[in-house]
Amino acid sequence: MFEPDTDDPFEQFRRWFADAEAAEPNDPNAMTLATAGSDGRPSARIVLLKDIDERGFAFFTNTESQKGQQLEVNPFAALCFHWKSLRRQVRIEGSVASVSEAEADAYYASRQRGSRIGAWASQQSRPLADRPTLLAAVARFEAEYDGREVPRPSYWSGYRLTPLRIEFWHDGEFRLHDRFVFSRAGDGLPWTIQRLFP
Ligand SMILES: Cc1cc2nc3c(=O)[nH]c(=O)nc-3n(C[C@H](O)[C@H](O)[C@H](O)COP(=O)(O)O)c2cc1C
Repeated sequence: MFEPDTDDPFEQFRRWFADAEAAEPNDPNAMTLATAGSDGRPSARIVLLKDIDERGFAFFTNTESQKGQQLEVNPFAALCFHWKSLRRQVRIEGSVASVSEAEADAYYASRQRGSRIGAWASQQSRPLADRPTLLAAVARFEAEYDGREVPRPSYWSGYRLTPLRIEFWHDGEFRLHDRFVFSRAGDGLPWTIQRLFP
């Protein structure tokens, strides 16, 4: 059985995330990100959670990708973690904004050189004729930045989701799961907690 013993959903998230880091064989920070553009049709994919604090949940990507284009016209999204080993799920909903240039620079600089080159070589989500085309682009940027720092492309940055709703789900016997949703009317306003039927 699960019952939150904190009224701060970020604290609750941090505890479950620490459990996931200890229990999951890989990528405990992998989360489904659901977005929808102006046509209202949702699309979902996995991204990695790279920062969590009282401001929200941050991830990094190519801003010209499908998700980037959708967030441009509709800056609302949902995140979903499923930690299989722990039989737990966390669902998060809220508004999304770009991280600062300084944050994007700092995270980009922390990535391996190959990943920084890859950010230049990949026009994420756009059609690619074949793999040799991608490898040729990698070789071109490797040559261009040989012996130099690889700068951050203007189209590569991060987003932070400011949550208005965070639900914690813990598996229960006979599908009698425990679900608690923390919600608030706006950033900085108080959270309320509600138990939900499974
Ligand atoms: C475990 C895992 C982690 C991933 N992490 C990221 C990530 O942090 N950023 C990213 O842009 N794509 C990441 N991807 C790739 C995305 O799922 C997706 O293919 C890509 O971002 C293009 O999505 P879009 O066309 O909807 O924009 C990851 C995929 C997996 C399976």
